[in-house]
Amino acid sequence: MKIVFSGPGSAATGALVVGVLEDNTLTLSAKALDKKINGGLRRAFKTSRFKGKVGQSLTVVTPAGTRLDRLLIVGLGKAKDVDEQALCKLGGRIYAGLAASGSKTATILVDSLDGLTLKPDHMAAAIAEGALLRSYRFTKYQTKNEDDAKPTLTTMTIRCRGSAKAQAEFRARDKVVQGVFMTRDLVTEPPNVIYPDSLAKRCKALTKLGVKVEILGEAQMKRLGMGALLGVGQGSVRESKLVVMRWDGKRGAKAKADKPVCFVGKGITFDTGGISLKPSAGMEDMKYDMGGSAVVIGLMKALAGRKAKVNAVGVVALAENMPGPNAQRPSDVVTSMSGQTIEVLNTDAEGRLVLADALHYANTRFKPQFIVDLATLTGAIVVALGSEYAGLFSNNDKLSERLTDAGEEVGELLWRLPQGEVYDKMLKSDIADMKNISGGRGAGSITAAQFLGRFIGKTPWAHLDIAGVTWDKADTPLSPKGATAFGVRLLNRLVADHYEAK
Ligand code: BES
Ligand code: MN
Ligand code: ZN
Repeated sequence: MKIVFSGPGSAATGALVVGVLEDNTLTLSAKALDKKINGGLRRAFKTSRFKGKVGQSLTVVTPAGTRLDRLLIVGLGKAKDVDEQALCKLGGRIYAGLAASGSKTATILVDSLDGLTLKPDHMAAAIAEGALLRSYRFTKYQTKNEDDAKPTLTTMTIRCRGSAKAQAEFRARDKVVQGVFMTRDLVTEPPNVIYPDSLAKRCKALTKLGVKVEILGEAQMKRLGMGALLGVGQGSVRESKLVVMRWDGKRGAKAKADKPVCFVGKGITFDTGGISLKPSAGMEDMKYDMGGSAVVIGLMKALAGRKAKVNAVGVVALAENMPGPNAQRPSDVVTSMSGQTIEVLNTDAEGRLVLADALHYANTRFKPQFIVDLATLTGAIVVALGSEYAGLFSNNDKLSERLTDAGEEVGELLWRLPQGEVYDKMLKSDIADMKNISGGRGAGSITAAQFLGRFIGKTPWAHLDIAGVTWDKADTPLSPKGATAFGVRLLNRLVADHYEAK
């Protein structure tokens, strides 16, 4: 879909979209329109349950006295609640309401609202971002053309004052959306297409945006002593990979000496559980066990795409967790790159094993300002938080706060859970420095994070357990059902708010 910005002006064709505040208080555009169609809006309100609430909408088809296909009236809620996030979601809902309606073009009228500091150009850019995010589709394996949901809408025009500014703001947002789309593509691809080597090649493609990409194979990882990561992949015929992506966007004399920010992702391209095999029901979900790595890759694309003034490193640990004659066994002891030994009591707790080596490697090689890792790490986080919040675990209050705030700004919510000695001691092993599962039944997400913390030391670090938010079984305003790319917009915002040279 093409998105165009233009100034307020001449009569529209196709679909026309206007906003209405709660209790059906008309915005300026809505007022003008109502007059033009002889009070048609107010009459429509009287015979419907539409009250201008957030999420409500009302369609009037072929309104008399116009050349329009339809009018879409959308609820804005209370003026004081109209913020960037609300507008983004509104854009998503508008797209969803029109995509397959039959209209080919749509025009959205954006006014300034009384009592709001938000400028129309900023509002327009947020609406456009939301619409574009919601327009995502993955159709490459559908060879037959019998798709009712196929969008008819090809162009969305957003009319506001300051349309040139809106266009400029949208240009950067569009780059972030392209990162989101890359993440969604990678997560949606089936595991016979996306496996460590093919995923590494997708990373390599970021080279053309100026990202430096290094791919380490098993021989190199063996030399580095990455026994924890290699143990996970040894049951698979696919070779494990570790990919390092660097975006050096800071300029100036001291830029090189600046410590980078660092993101690490779990990339299990399929998680069968290994010898501790998962039950077959629902196992297909484990294609998205590389979701953390896909967020890191999409984030690097977003940062490079919008030429962010930051030095950022992305590290992804890619392996396939399979049973087989060479798979690791429950009770194997592996030695991680850090030198710490791990008793593998459950081969299905594999994410923490690959991250142990990836985190240690990233931390010792780059000495970053901070590390944020993302992983679909535990089923327990889905039990605790569902698909509304991701779990946040951290050794640093400031980083936690910044992450939580960035999440609120973009509508990707984080909930912090505790860490501490009481949990750490649950990882005590009889034979090695630690075991990869805790003894008891409780606190599964917390002990998993505690395990990761042992490979970090004092570097400010946060772990996001995204097992519940990576894949949505239902549509949401900003994402059709399926891969969400939760984390890309959040971490992009974190960087933009705090770590970018002005
Ligand atoms: N990849 C899974 C976690 C997961 C579950 C992700 C549901 C997405 C949706 C992870 O590798 C795993 O299997 N974790 C185990 C850990 C247990 C063996 C300690 C779990 O959560 O059951
Ligand atoms: Mn597992
Ligand atoms: Zn897993």
